[in-house]
Amino acid sequence: MSTAELLERPAVQPAAARYNPYLEGNFAPVVSETTAFDLPVKGRIPEELIGRFLRIGPNPVGPQDPATYHWFTGTGMAHGLRLNGGRAEWYRNRFIVNDHDAPALGRPNLPGPRNGFGGGNANTNIIDMGGRTFAIVEAGGLPVELTYGLESVAPSRLDGTLPHGFTAHPKVDSLTGELHALTYQPGLQAISYVTVDKAGHARVVADIPAPHCPMIHDTAFTARFAIILDLPVHFDMTLLGKGGFPFGWDDKMTPRIGLLPRSGDLTGLRWIEAPSCYVFHVMNAFDDGDQVVMDVVRHPKMFANEMRGPSEGRPYLVRWRIDLATGGLSETTLDERGLEFPRFNDARAGQSYRFGYTVAAGEVMQEFGSIHKHDVEKGVNLTHEAGAGRQMLEPVFIARDGGAAEDDGWIMAYVYDANRDASDVVIIDAQDFEAPPVATIALPVRVPFGFHGNWIADPA
Ligand SMILES: [Fe+2]
Repeated sequence: MSTAELLERPAVQPAAARYNPYLEGNFAPVVSETTAFDLPVKGRIPEELIGRFLRIGPNPVGPQDPATYHWFTGTGMAHGLRLNGGRAEWYRNRFIVNDHDAPALGRPNLPGPRNGFGGGNANTNIIDMGGRTFAIVEAGGLPVELTYGLESVAPSRLDGTLPHGFTAHPKVDSLTGELHALTYQPGLQAISYVTVDKAGHARVVADIPAPHCPMIHDTAFTARFAIILDLPVHFDMTLLGKGGFPFGWDDKMTPRIGLLPRSGDLTGLRWIEAPSCYVFHVMNAFDDGDQVVMDVVRHPKMFANEMRGPSEGRPYLVRWRIDLATGGLSETTLDERGLEFPRFNDARAGQSYRFGYTVAAGEVMQEFGSIHKHDVEKGVNLTHEAGAGRQMLEPVFIARDGGAAEDDGWIMAYVYDANRDASDVVIIDAQDFEAPPVATIALPVRVPFGFHGNWIADPA
């Protein structure tokens, strides 16, 4: 830290004191925006990594009511670490400005369009579309464009091509360069299948009628299908009326998986009955002859009893195999440990693959810790131990330039270190997964547990 320069921004009030797990420990928000340069590095940062390792999560502004605060609703905060030629050039964190919190942050409202009821809050994922950086969110929210340095610019309809809200989980098809996305919006009784081209422009491929508004957090695709997760968590106006999180478990809903031809031809849409569970994240999916394979993190229930966050039993990794001839679905367990935030080599999206990566999440998806590497072909699960007092977050795979093997590259992850109440970024050789990191970069502040991140390489 001796060479770091800290620029403190105006502080906001910390959360109220009554207990809510999502306002405590490293779930608690940070109150300042920080900029630090030339961060200390232990080990050696691969010189070819030139770009930003970005991450985003909720970071509520001002006092919250612990009785009703839900982890998914906090104001977005982006975190970024820029690497260049073996140096850790800067770390910065920035609030994503939304209409509700702009006054408390002392900022003007952002210009640009609005959509849905979230007031422009975007807190779930941070990605590149068409060479621009966006904070993104589901349930009707628009992407919020950010500068390279993570300052909020404006909500965006992607140059007028996005007629409604977006999603937090578009999936990139390395064979076409397109993103595939499933969007939904309370109040609009439809789910949309949307693609985004390399220029960052959206196209609605199909509007899928639905009699309810399911929470569709993630999607996946195969060579033939876009996959729709219609599971028993849906928008409930009565919950909204009580002032709480407006999505709840519905035992009366039949869980189902939609297989929509990628052409968007609704006459080809098939619904397959799924096990009773909730799935936030699909690791990957692919066609296997007359079957469709999906590897998912399965939660036993969601938002049935715990309305402050996603904690209703141990989430674990399973493979679903859908038989297109019979319409049946079979399940095998890939790893029974509590885990979440599955990632893999994005170049394999929609195709058969061998390696995935997750973070340990404990029995209630709050006890983050080590990270795992799953060989889904051989059934071998390796663990990279976080170390005492350290909790790792979503492991992001970055392919080595020119690498041939699927796991030839690095895993990068933010790590909360309770020993110094601050965070590190670690870079791990994905082929030497259990070994110590090749580089550990110490950040001057902590990065709260949040949702998702990505490595965004600078343009060549
Ligand atoms: Fe997610």
